[in-house]
Amino acid sequence: MVKVAPSVLAADFARLAEEVAEVEKLGADWLHLDVMDGHFVPNISFGADVVRSLRQHSKLFFDVHLMIENPDQYIPSFARAGADLIVVHAEATRHLDRTIDLIKEAGIKCGVALNPHTPPEVLEFVIHKLDVVLVMTVNPGFGGQAFNPVMTQKIKDLNEWREYGGLDFLIEIDGGGSPSNARELEAAGVDVIVAGTAIFGAADRAAAIAAIAGD
Ligand code: DX5
Ligand code: ZN
Repeated sequence: MVKVAPSVLAADFARLAEEVAEVEKLGADWLHLDVMDGHFVPNISFGADVVRSLRQHSKLFFDVHLMIENPDQYIPSFARAGADLIVVHAEATRHLDRTIDLIKEAGIKCGVALNPHTPPEVLEFVIHKLDVVLVMTVNPGFGGQAFNPVMTQKIKDLNEWREYGGLDFLIEIDGGGSPSNARELEAAGVDVIVAGTAIFGAADRAAAIAAIAGD
């Protein structure tokens, strides 16, 4: 079994609360919220106000994925808006250790995302502080892209590191997650699968969530 985190990026933004309520009812574990600034990634999505509004309608664990430059400036407002976990990109901050501390000071879970080209080794001296390592399995910015199979090795490396290092972070993947690769990802060590298109674009969303979870 893996945790399933539907990404609202693929939901109908005009009916966001209903879309979230539906996946919550259908057994989603986390809610993945993609924040894009048009600078770190070539797309713009939404900010902390949307997270705050959704918080009033959902008890799901809010997994806020910041694809923004200068994340330090915005971490407190996303924490106040109701994030349970904030994930920042290793590539988006000059002082990753300081950024991680800022998230932890806000009293919430902390994760770091790695773009496809970024090796896990950049986390060597901070990994003991992390609750989640998010492996980007597409280049960030857009939903609906194809899963990059080269990332399976990165997941296996992280899983081995976790095992032999006595660490307990969760491994999350983001991009192209679906029922067709969920079991292979689980076998490689993935704990949380983000899926936008594969859930919100499915004719039977309940079946899609169950198939990704593996029950
Ligand atoms: C991409 C986002 C993802 C996106 C995944 O930059 O971080 O969370 O919503 O979408 P799918 O599952 O459609 O690849
Ligand atoms: Zn994401």
